[in-house]
Amino acid sequence: MPPYKILTVFGTRPEAIKMAPVVKELNLHPEEFTCLVAVTAQHREMLDQVLRLFHIKPDYDLDIMRPRQTLEEITTRALTGLAGVLKEARPDLVLVHGDTTTTFVAALAAFYQQIPVGHVEAGLRTGDRYAPFPEEMNRRLAGVLTDIHFAPTAKARDNLLREGIAPEHIYVTGNTVIDALKATIREEYQFGDHGLAGLDFREKRVILVTAHRRENWGEPLKEIFTALRDLIRRHPDTALIFPVHYNPRVRQLAREVLGGQERVYLIEPLDYEPFVNLMNRAYLVLTDSGGLQEEAPALGKPVLVLREVTERPEAVAAGTVRLVGTAYRDILAAAEELLTDRQAYLQMAHAVNPYGDGQASRRIRSALRHYFGMTVARPQEFQPLGATGQK
Ligand code: UD1
Ligand code: UDP
Repeated sequence: MPPYKILTVFGTRPEAIKMAPVVKELNLHPEEFTCLVAVTAQHREMLDQVLRLFHIKPDYDLDIMRPRQTLEEITTRALTGLAGVLKEARPDLVLVHGDTTTTFVAALAAFYQQIPVGHVEAGLRTGDRYAPFPEEMNRRLAGVLTDIHFAPTAKARDNLLREGIAPEHIYVTGNTVIDALKATIREEYQFGDHGLAGLDFREKRVILVTAHRRENWGEPLKEIFTALRDLIRRHPDTALIFPVHYNPRVRQLAREVLGGQERVYLIEPLDYEPFVNLMNRAYLVLTDSGGLQEEAPALGKPVLVLREVTERPEAVAAGTVRLVGTAYRDILAAAEELLTDRQAYLQMAHAVNPYGDGQASRRIRSALRHYFGMTVARPQEFQPLGATGQK
């Protein structure tokens, strides 16, 4: 039996980070699977950073990114490009990840050519079709087009079951983000030439920030940045590090409100390796990112989420993530509490791994073996161990 041909498709930084362990796992078993990689390059520089780190050389690169691209532009360019890729590659299955426009469009392109779709990180829901925007809808649409759902958690599986997906089409695998994290975190990590080598993590409490969501562009981002500026001004023992997303809308506002402020470091997007190791040394994380809500809890770092709703409720329930929204007062109050109330801080600063155990890509490969009839037994499902101790 020749190996099954799997085409993985991704386009942005977080998809690449979370698909890299899957690509690696499939490549370890060439007798079972031939793994091809197609990138839309909806992101360019931020995608290339990840490809370099994980030594992934795409077989197809659509190079679609344009400055200030619209959703319509991403959708049409990716759909047209992927049609050609699928005709040429003729895979047995297309593997997509998450909730970006690349994710939805790749699933649609595969459907048009009647190629089965596997969806990694399936089933996360806020229930609000406009938040996060357009990700909630991208993920739902990809789900409708999917044949095999890799749900990271039991909650994600339950969401899919409620939508009428048959249980035999769902595998609970854990999230591959923890596979990537475990392979990259090192307690002895040296920051080298990333501009962070001079930071004294004992002298200053580092507050790590990222923000980029479309629904936060404009006024919400302005409130977020103003709250951060005042927070740092009021606490001389803190430093804010903000690797600013390449999106010009985010960059401009960040510079306007936070530029030139004492102890505020607006830096370029970091490579994944220094970034997660920086997070591992940070005191507190404020973010509107999806991935950080999964990574920081695994590292025992409290997270204040700059959004009204989240599709990742597990860490909120575990008490290490709090939704604070985008209002100036709420952000300032929540962050100040964690800087001044040791008890409140310690309550949030405990490591939990509700999202994975580092074995998700192995389970995804096992599930693919099961799907293709290479094995009769269903793979064992991921089950979180719960709290692993105080930090
Ligand atoms: C996209 C995804 C979002 C994901 C995020 C991760 C959609 C609609 N949005 O949002 O779900 O959470 O990626 O970061 O799928 N840019 C560069 N270089 C880069 C990357 C971006 O210059 O490497 C600039 C370009 O001007 C681009 C803009 O950022 O037009 C926005 O990129 P886009 O992919 O449309 O949106 P994101 O906010 O990055
Ligand atoms: N990340 C990174 N460098 C940075 C900021 C983030 O490598 O400067 C990583 C982070 O560890 C996480 C992912 O990028 O794995 C999150 O990506 P992003 O915030 O762009 O997207 P989201 O998670 O919101 O979809």
